[in-house]
Amino acid sequence: PTTPMIDSYGRKISYLRVSVTDRCDLRCNYCMPKGFKGFEEPAHWLTHAEMARVVGLFVRLGVSKVRLTGGEPLMRRGVAELAARITAMPQVRDLSLSTNATTLAKHAQDLKEAGVKRLNVSLDSLDAARFAEITGRDCLADVLAGLQAARQVGFTPIKLNCVVNAQTPAQDIEQLLQYALDNGFILRLIENMPIGSTGQQFQHANLTQMGSAIAARKFLVPALDTSDTGPARYWTSGQGGAPVLGVITPMSQHFCETCNRVRLTVDGTLHLCLGQENSVPLGRMLRDGADDEQLIAAINGGIAAKPERHEFNTKRAQVVRFMSQTGG
Ligand code: GTP
Ligand code: 5AD
Ligand code: SF4
Repeated sequence: PTTPMIDSYGRKISYLRVSVTDRCDLRCNYCMPKGFKGFEEPAHWLTHAEMARVVGLFVRLGVSKVRLTGGEPLMRRGVAELAARITAMPQVRDLSLSTNATTLAKHAQDLKEAGVKRLNVSLDSLDAARFAEITGRDCLADVLAGLQAARQVGFTPIKLNCVVNAQTPAQDIEQLLQYALDNGFILRLIENMPIGSTGQQFQHANLTQMGSAIAARKFLVPALDTSDTGPARYWTSGQGGAPVLGVITPMSQHFCETCNRVRLTVDGTLHLCLGQENSVPLGRMLRDGADDEQLIAAINGGIAAKPERHEFNTKRAQVVRFMSQTGG
């Protein structure tokens, strides 16, 4: 007895991104400030049962794609168990996970068995020293082991997420692309978004231009199938081939007209847009004893107020939360 979520710009919301922790074992310089201590008290964190209840409400409202993110989602105990609860919902046709892969070798098999369909792995450099400089930890080998384990248990294709700035060495991108080609991964280059203040100053790279230049140099052709690709635009190695390279360009060419997603943080806050402050405190309502109908009314109220787009390029005002809270 519920209707699909359509926002005031006519966009159908069918994708829920769930951040299951705001903690992370890395400190990527574009994501978390050094010494970040603003962690939510675990008592405020929704339990897996509470998370599954909220996800179930979104599923009743037409969500068919769910992604688990963090922080680092594998830092949350029992995340595979949460994944299994979600994949048990018949309307969920796609459950994916975004991870830094430092502990993926240990978790890959459990995630596969829980029904996780797709993995996106953050990887910004294959140079161990550069990796350590960006992430604050010298653990590239663990990430590579995680990727191989994930491949062995049958995750395919795996996407590599590489955040790019004007300062990113061309050689890093070159090496990552070769590695992706050799292993059957998809390399995605991502424009750095100014969320929170990590204390770092970045000059933005224009990946709309850079992506086309790299693709031309490597004789890659634009992917024809653009259905269901989300924010990324892809190139393949030949007509009809699978994607090998993608770009995500929130800064130089945003994709907000086709936005289909909202985000839930670990304390149950619903964020309507990655780049805006509007939110609905579903977690607090739930803890105060709200029933399903009340929560659904609150969700619908949020969807009606979903902003048209982010304003990273136009506003000086910063979004004050961090990527580690909303999971990108
Ligand atoms: P796929 O379904 O595999 O395409 O996943 P995805 O790209 O939606 O998710 P992922 O967690 O791998 O995110 C990749 C990058 O895209 C991250 O930098 C995200 O912050 C960014 N991104 C994802 N969704 C949005 C969005 O709605 N708006 C903006 N501006 N960026 C987004
Ligand atoms: N801008 C763009 N992407 C970011 N990510 C984290 N912080 C940022 C940022 N400031 C990416 C990570 C991860 C994905 C979920 O979000 O690389 O792969
Ligand atoms: Fe959607 Fe906001 Fe992302 Fe634009 S910035 S795609 S409106 S979540």
